[in-house]
Amino acid sequence: MSAIVKVDEIHKSFGANHVLKGVSFEVNKGEMIAVIGASGSGKSTALRCIDRLETVDQGQIEVCGIRVDDPKVDLHLLRREVGIVFQSYNLFPHLTVEENIMLALRHVKKLPRDEARRIATNVLEQVGLGQKAESYPEQLSGGQQQRVAIARSLAMSPKVMLFDEVTSALDPQLTGEVLRVMEDLAADGMTMLLVTHEMAFAKRVADRIIYMHHGKVWEVGDGGMLDAPRTPELRAFLDNGL
Ligand SMILES: Nc1ncnc2c1ncn2[C@@H]1O[C@H](COP(=O)(O)OP(=O)(O)OP(=O)(O)O)[C@@H](O)[C@H]1O
Ligand SMILES: [Mg+2]
Repeated sequence: MSAIVKVDEIHKSFGANHVLKGVSFEVNKGEMIAVIGASGSGKSTALRCIDRLETVDQGQIEVCGIRVDDPKVDLHLLRREVGIVFQSYNLFPHLTVEENIMLALRHVKKLPRDEARRIATNVLEQVGLGQKAESYPEQLSGGQQQRVAIARSLAMSPKVMLFDEVTSALDPQLTGEVLRVMEDLAADGMTMLLVTHEMAFAKRVADRIIYMHHGKVWEVGDGGMLDAPRTPELRAFLDNGL
């Protein structure tokens, strides 16, 4: 199996707060890995280090053969390989859905308008929003806006996608439609690393689940580990952490 993401013994502190204390894991091509853990355990920080939104203090990160911990890393190249989607959608309100998606295709990838539009149409179909190309973000539900954000990321053809609690701001019905899009992506073979509080989803869809506790990978396993936690910390998290 080939690893798309290799995280090796990374450490990260914010001032005196030692947030990541030697975190290691790999994501292989086509895998979907779910990261769970209590608030403050370092899940978002780990994800952000992979896309170099944060720098690590120690340890190595490799994404598609790019050494992310190298101070001279080519961020332009890295960001072409990695798509990241957050809880907030960050769509431009004055642009239509289609224009939001075309923006980076035009200005980062320098594609001609027609080709950018064709890609936008395709990715909107993929997330079930083929009819919404001409809408403005405020005319869409939260779940639809989040699907646009996913489509925008997808349009750049990333080799791996990172999702940080993308459904946390949504009510249950809208959560379902976003999870379905992610499940489809996984079924299509997209390599994905997602931080989530959706335990049932993680259990059903993820190839592996990483449980983080106090800045460490505390437990790793398949969905079964949620039924039979080995550590008291994971048991306590599953009992009351949600
Ligand atoms: N930019 C920052 N500056 C200072 N401290 C930070 C920064 N980002 C994160 N932290 C701290 O690092 C710790 C881990 O935060 P992180 O956001 O990674 O946790 P998390 O597991 O994603 O939690 P949550 O489930 O609440 O999203 C927290 O103590 C947080 O306050
Ligand atoms: Mg977080």
